Amino acid sequence: MKDFLGIADLSYKELTGLLDLAQSMQEIMHRPIKKVPTLRGKAIANLFFEASTRTRNSFELAGKYLSADVVNFSGSGSSVEKGETLIDTVKTFSALAVDALVIRHQASGTPHQLAKEVDIPIINAGDGTHEHPTQGLLDLLTVRQRFGHVDGLRVSVVGDVLHSRVARSDCYGFLALGAHVTFVGPPNLLPEGFAELGVEVTDDLSAGIAQANVIQVLRLQRERFATGELPSLQEYRDRWGITRDRLELAAEDVWIMHPGPQNRGVEIDSEVMAGRHSAILQQVENGVAVRMAVLYRLLGEETA
Ligand code: CP
Repeated sequence: MKDFLGIADLSYKELTGLLDLAQSMQEIMHRPIKKVPTLRGKAIANLFFEASTRTRNSFELAGKYLSADVVNFSGSGSSVEKGETLIDTVKTFSALAVDALVIRHQASGTPHQLAKEVDIPIINAGDGTHEHPTQGLLDLLTVRQRFGHVDGLRVSVVGDVLHSRVARSDCYGFLALGAHVTFVGPPNLLPEGFAELGVEVTDDLSAGIAQANVIQVLRLQRERFATGELPSLQEYRDRWGITRDRLELAAEDVWIMHPGPQNRGVEIDSEVMAGRHSAILQQVENGVAVRMAVLYRLLGEETA
């Protein structure tokens, strides 16, 4: 594996191998001194052309826990503001002798294009509406930790599925591990082409909640909407929000997830986020472990 670009590219064996590795990485995070020398002497650059809190910081910590040197780059404040192109930026980091590039970009397919241009590993930290593969992995890990398995579970992905790269990575990952996936949302926010993959697609929120072992609530991505496409936020919450009342329909042991960042009081209520069904902070924690696993898989095995 030179690059880590998408969950859709991964086999069952590769996925479960990464989850097993992430589980062992999590043990390192809970040691009093959470640092191992595995990637000592390696350098990683985090190139984020879009905002991020969880992904960027967890990639940074993952690299540091493995003893890599990590540099962080964002478009603002860089030579991109003077007109430097993306490819020149990436080639500059390659010339700086970094060993891997972690890239988030607003345009779908960007990491795939860049992977053809440079010899060092490219890791996709979210590309447009296409994929967010390390988020997909951490969601799989969170569910596997809770239920002990993924196969046979029913996963409802609820909300703005159309604009969600997380929904796509989750869909590929959960299907590959044998779960049943349902996309639930307003008809204008449901993508086409997923029924052919075996995904159930519905605007019946009550059924989507009632049948689920896991509900992944998605952020309403207002930045990706054209003007006038969206009803008011209050209307969205009233019709599609995951509220405590709506969870009365859910299974007693349902697991509520959200990749973050959340619009509290829009797609999910604060009391659901803080409630006993919520896996949200466990998702965040697992983000570090899966990113350690990916970095190790791409850079560590040659040093092992
Ligand atoms: N889930 C996720 O990608 O969050 P950030 O945008 O904060 O990285």
